[in-house]
Amino acid sequence: MSSVQALATTGRFITLEGVDGAGKTTHLAWLVEYLKSRHVPLCVTREPGGTPLGEALRELLLHEAMSIETEALLMFASRQQHLQSCIIPALNAGQWVVCDRFTDASYAYQGGGRGLPVEKLAMLEHWVHSDIQPDLTLLFDVPAEVSFERVRGARSPDRFEQLDLAFFQRVRQAYLDRAVADPLRFRIINANRAIDEIQLELAEVIMSYIQGEAHAS
Ligand code: TMP
Repeated sequence: MSSVQALATTGRFITLEGVDGAGKTTHLAWLVEYLKSRHVPLCVTREPGGTPLGEALRELLLHEAMSIETEALLMFASRQQHLQSCIIPALNAGQWVVCDRFTDASYAYQGGGRGLPVEKLAMLEHWVHSDIQPDLTLLFDVPAEVSFERVRGARSPDRFEQLDLAFFQRVRQAYLDRAVADPLRFRIINANRAIDEIQLELAEVIMSYIQGEAHAS
């Protein structure tokens, strides 16, 4: 039995993170195809969003003016619904959940970027999902100047994409701080390289994760 087949009955929770403009969307699409080609049972989803209510909240979060506190609360409201009606059932059914952003984004954007105290975020995290954390988090890292320049060219930037370079720098730093604090869960991928080099590294990271998990189980 191959490593992937051995894991097929146990769900895994994989999250992708990075500052806007780090190329996460492209890498997510590639990763999904890679896992599908290896017959990994998949649930691909995103935050904010992932449920009808979450997608409605996403529209508000990306386009309506609101206070920092409201922003954080709505991110976690979307997350709670997402966990209950999508992520947890998929994991229980043995699927691998590949989620485009999760709670690390709240620490990076609402905490690092907006300056909301970390204790408030920790309180919400504890309330909403004290019992569940991603198994693996891929952090796509690029210098803030690079991601800032990329999103500045967007035709209709959302509320986050309109923020200044200093905001992007704070978000990146907050992500890196979290990655350094939890090296077992995080893999930092240098996303400021040619796309085929990044994909090569991604394939290595995923295969070694699968093999490590298969040996552990
Ligand atoms: P996306 O463009 O990667 O889909 O993410 C939408 C925006 O939402 C992005 O700018 C990051 C932001 N965001 C937060 O600020 N906090 C969160 O908890 C999440 C999940 C996303």
